[in-house]
Amino acid sequence: MRFPEDVPTLTDDGVTLRAHTVADVQPAYEICQDPEMQRWTTIPVPYVLQDAAHFLTELIPAGWREGNTWAWAIEYDGRYAGTIDLRPEDGNVGEVGFAMAPWARGNGVMTRALGLVVRYGFERGWDRVTWRAYVGNWGSRRVAWKCGFRNLVTIPAGGVQRGVRRDEWVASIARDDVPEPQGNWWRVPAIEADGVRLRTLRSTDAKRLMEACNDARTQEWLAGLAKPYQLEDAEGFIESRQENLASGEGVTWGIADPDTDELLGNVSVFDLKNRIDKTMGEVGYWAHPDARGRGVMSAAVRCAIGHAFTPVEDGGLGRRRLVLFAAEGNTASQRVAEVNGFTRTGRERAASPGRDGTFRDLHAFDLLSTDRLPGSGR
Ligand SMILES: CC(C)(COP(=O)(O)OP(=O)(O)OC[C@H]1O[C@@H](n2cnc3c(N)ncnc32)[C@H](O)[C@@H]1OP(=O)(O)O)[C@@H](O)C(=O)NCCC(=O)NCCS
Repeated sequence: MRFPEDVPTLTDDGVTLRAHTVADVQPAYEICQDPEMQRWTTIPVPYVLQDAAHFLTELIPAGWREGNTWAWAIEYDGRYAGTIDLRPEDGNVGEVGFAMAPWARGNGVMTRALGLVVRYGFERGWDRVTWRAYVGNWGSRRVAWKCGFRNLVTIPAGGVQRGVRRDEWVASIARDDVPEPQGNWWRVPAIEADGVRLRTLRSTDAKRLMEACNDARTQEWLAGLAKPYQLEDAEGFIESRQENLASGEGVTWGIADPDTDELLGNVSVFDLKNRIDKTMGEVGYWAHPDARGRGVMSAAVRCAIGHAFTPVEDGGLGRRRLVLFAAEGNTASQRVAEVNGFTRTGRERAASPGRDGTFRDLHAFDLLSTDRLPGSGR
């Protein structure tokens, strides 16, 4: 194809993909100074003006002429805002790559740009488009998810960045796939009621989280926790919450003091992709020792239940049924279930492993969205 004459212009709702021009060199150079760009792409570091000039005025035109890379300038709000490219590979498959100026991020621009080039790839006869990103690039993963990329896998050391191997996510979309998000990507809504605040867990909560999970009572009732539970364990747990949301598995809140924002505990609704019943969820929690005995967890679970039973279209988890388990002897936890209207459905025998190799019975509770909730008037 000839450059720039044959470069197709693609548009969608305020976003235009067009051939690059010399005028894009300076803004492209500026975008490449962004630390996020350097962190998540393979651009040279340091990145000089000459790199941008070489890329835009030599490599990109050559890519179109030789047919090995089709790169478009993304124009948004009347300005050059980034670049997106398709790289054809053998067998009607190709890969996509993209980057956006910091000022233009978070406006859905890349989502529209990606939708356009995926459609273009299929029009040019591709059967599949592949997306890759280094593990941890959540913005990129969300763009791909929104455009219908699916079957995400993690390949340890699958990518290479400036000579260093990095873990990589890979997902793809096929010609016949519906270009819509697959599965839920949950959010963590901030909820404040009855003297507690539920919010996202943050890295600054790690110390309080470690204290809570090292506490003798927490260790006794949650035998799966590392012992001792170290700061790295707490940091790893906080970090892993994002994957939990993105994969649709569950939602975890930090319970915080509404005045000081200090972490008081943790409440989760999980198992949201249960193999047999995708409308159920399990409630789990622990409280920091200095927050126990004053109704914090009962209030927090009430908030979590409200969100769990809210329909997905209204921003909730759309659950029909919640379950909760508390081990024999864990009176406080059973009380939290009862005051929140859960029904005791039975006892699972020898179901809760202890650290000493013994197994305790588990008390099972459930709550249906149609149940009358305490204090709710329902
Ligand atoms: C990745 C990148 C292209 C996204 O561009 P963008 O214009 O922000 O994309 P969009 O606005 O279309 O969508 C971004 C989505 O990701 C979400 N997002 C951004 N950062 C996120 C994060 N850290 N965690 C979770 N979601 C995140 C945004 O909220 C938005 O979703 P929403 O519209 O549902 O709220 C941009 O951040 C970028 O250029 N990063 C540096 C280069 C890069 O990483 N390129 C991709 C290499 S694989």
